[in-house]
Amino acid sequence: MKVHNLAEQNSILNQFISEIRDTQIQKDSMRFRRNIERIGEVLGYELSKTLNYADKTVITPLGKKDTQLVKDKVVICSILRAGLPLHQGLLNYFDKAENGFISAYRKHENNADDFEVVVNYFASPSLDGKVLILTDPMLATGKTLENVLLGLKEYGVPKKIYIVSVIGAKPGLDYIEGIFPENTHLWIGAIDPELNARGYILPGIGDAGDLAYGQKL
Ligand code: URA
Repeated sequence: MKVHNLAEQNSILNQFISEIRDTQIQKDSMRFRRNIERIGEVLGYELSKTLNYADKTVITPLGKKDTQLVKDKVVICSILRAGLPLHQGLLNYFDKAENGFISAYRKHENNADDFEVVVNYFASPSLDGKVLILTDPMLATGKTLENVLLGLKEYGVPKKIYIVSVIGAKPGLDYIEGIFPENTHLWIGAIDPELNARGYILPGIGDAGDLAYGQKL
């Protein structure tokens, strides 16, 4: 798996990432969602540089201009709930992409720290021969991505998988390395060192779904 960690270079992305971490700024959920969307736009722009392009001539009011446009067929598949604003950011740029949605949640028996990832809803177009952009905003343990990959098998074989994450934990990255095909690329805004006992990223941001859409029962 090739990891593209955008935190390795200084850019405006640092501002968006630091705002979603900041407990004061997090109180503004509209800003939180918009920052995740902006991160999706930046990651989408960066990954677009590695897609395949085809020649195209554009007719302008005053002449013609030769250019190159994205040739790959792109499917953006996102994991609910926290994946929604990241999905929107990617879709803002890849406006011709097809879309898929997957529901996943962590089932903690008797509120124990351990959990099982339940993935129970898939809505996806065919993935055959396409570039699959799989969003998982918080790549924590990697178990969600593992289950999602398994479930997506019945939708065909993508020619390439691009995982897009806002923040990941090193143990989660190591875990998915052994599960995803070798030609998978991970585009990520920051990598944090560890997980807490409940599988939250440290220092991370907290619960991305709650911060974007409010607390759940
Ligand atoms: N999901 C989140 O929202 N945050 C984490 O830290 C891990 C998983």
